[in-house]
Amino acid sequence: MLSLSEHDFQRLYTYIKKNYGIDLSKKKQLIVSRLSNTLSSKGFKDFTAYVDEILSGRDPEMVTTMLNKLTTNYTYFLREEEHFQYFWDIILPDLEKKHAKDKNLAIWSAGCSSGEEPYTISMYLKEYFGSKAGQWDTRILATDISNKILSTAINATYNDESISALPSGWQRKYFIKAGKDSYSISPALKQNVIFRTFNLMDPIKFKRKFDLIFCRNVMIYFDQDTKDALVRRFYNATVPGGHLFIGHSEGLTKATCPYTYVKPAIYQKTGA
Ligand SMILES: C[S@@+](CC[C@H](N)C(=O)[O-])C[C@H]1O[C@@H](n2cnc3c(N)ncnc32)[C@H](O)[C@@H]1O
Repeated sequence: MLSLSEHDFQRLYTYIKKNYGIDLSKKKQLIVSRLSNTLSSKGFKDFTAYVDEILSGRDPEMVTTMLNKLTTNYTYFLREEEHFQYFWDIILPDLEKKHAKDKNLAIWSAGCSSGEEPYTISMYLKEYFGSKAGQWDTRILATDISNKILSTAINATYNDESISALPSGWQRKYFIKAGKDSYSISPALKQNVIFRTFNLMDPIKFKRKFDLIFCRNVMIYFDQDTKDALVRRFYNATVPGGHLFIGHSEGLTKATCPYTYVKPAIYQKTGA
């Protein structure tokens, strides 16, 4: 493994934090272990030249490869089920009324990783609207900074463990056996999710405001200022009455959070 000096470590984590919000200032070992092979395969003998190259901005592809290696993509279907219960009991009936005329929902899975989150949302939508699903536009926007993990999401093939929390009826209904231990998402669910690469540090310029934003287990890697600024951008991109879901191990600071707290990890835009 290559060695990383304190100076290069500092240069690299400062760059990553500033541009991508991810705080790796206590993750020196993780950086070394996840990047050493990449450096060697690209012919770098040490981290200094590599960090110089990254900071120069000459090679965006190299930055993408680095982010693909450093992001933590752990996720699974039906993660934090309490959110989906609230979605089903409270949010969906409300959205069905609100959108009775245009029949068009705006839901964003921000930091969607390999797709388990938006596909789970999609299953709930199909179940909720049932035979009326065809009359509704329920397509979900699903974004992540890592294009590598988005390829996995688009490929949409999962193993036993990843789908094990789903009811067995849903496993049969929404997956097609692809191999001994692998399952592909059904085309109807696939068509309901639009995947895009998006850095959450960038301004949010999507055409519509969202009824519901899932940003779960993403801000956990961001420092307070980065988190506060992102939550403000989310707020401006939420329709009045719309909701933000965050991970249950995360929290928003009361003093700076524009949303109203509803219950753990659920917030609502209640202002005018
Ligand atoms: C642990 S996964 C969370 C997946 C899913 N939301 C869940 O709760 O299971 C965190 C995801 O956030 C993405 N991420 C981290 N920083 C990001 C940024 N600045 N912009 C967009 N996505 C980012 C990572 O690539 C990773 O896929």
